[in-house]
Amino acid sequence: MRYNVAWCITGAGHFLLESFEVFLKLVKNRDVKVTTLLSGAGEEVVCVYGVLDKLNQISPGGYYQEIILEREQGKGFPKAGRLARGTYTALVISPTTANTVAKMVCGIADTLVTSAFAQAQKGNVPAYIVPTDYKEGTVVTKLPTVIDYDVCIGCDTCPPLKKCPSDAIKMVEKPTIDLTLCRGCKTCIDLCTYGAISFGKEIETRVRKIDEDNVHKLSLFEGVTILKYPYEIYDAVSSLDVS
Ligand SMILES: Cc1cc2nc3c(=O)[nH]c(=O)nc-3n(C[C@H](O)[C@H](O)[C@H](O)COP(=O)(O)O)c2cc1C
Repeated sequence: MRYNVAWCITGAGHFLLESFEVFLKLVKNRDVKVTTLLSGAGEEVVCVYGVLDKLNQISPGGYYQEIILEREQGKGFPKAGRLARGTYTALVISPTTANTVAKMVCGIADTLVTSAFAQAQKGNVPAYIVPTDYKEGTVVTKLPTVIDYDVCIGCDTCPPLKKCPSDAIKMVEKPTIDLTLCRGCKTCIDLCTYGAISFGKEIETRVRKIDEDNVHKLSLFEGVTILKYPYEIYDAVSSLDVS
């Protein structure tokens, strides 16, 4: 029997590509329908990391297989209300920003994703959450497309600026990528003759104690399972299969 899972994406670059890999595998191998819900920031990161097109392979459209965008929903997020009506077997939030974790811990439900979580709790739908900021210390995360200004010499003729299909590169003393416009197509990388542009460069960022504490508080909620890595979603969702 097919079962329905609601997958929420928040505005995190960390674990984003890994979350996509897991869901692509799930829809290929398991009898699962996935509705994808994106917070406003979630939609932005999906664009800048260049995976918007892949979403259609996971949620191709049709009932319980839609892509639901926060900006297309009203202030009450009516589609999140489905979670309270017993139509989903599980809710998965991956990646989950520190911001969304903090809001869920406080019972705030003012975004599509935090509202979906609140409704899932009211409907006794189990929630699987993969936080980006799990334990105080550091995490290594991948950047979207960035310009290395130690290498960029700011050519007047900057080919990436001239040929970016999204017009996302502007001249502000030196070429600058506007991440609100970037679609993560990577066209610019090969066009820069100096090799100043890269995608997926790794950086280390600090995880704050408050974020670790919030994850711990969330783990104590009834019906919530915290997963450390996106790959753990595969077994968690597979085990829900009732066929
Ligand atoms: C490219 C990019 C990557 C980001 N990655 C992360 C991240 O890995 N973890 C995180 O907590 N916030 C990250 N943020 C910040 C969040 O997007 C920001 O806090 C946003 O308000 C979260 O909104 P949401 O929780 O409703 O999705 C990132 C922002 C950008 C622009």
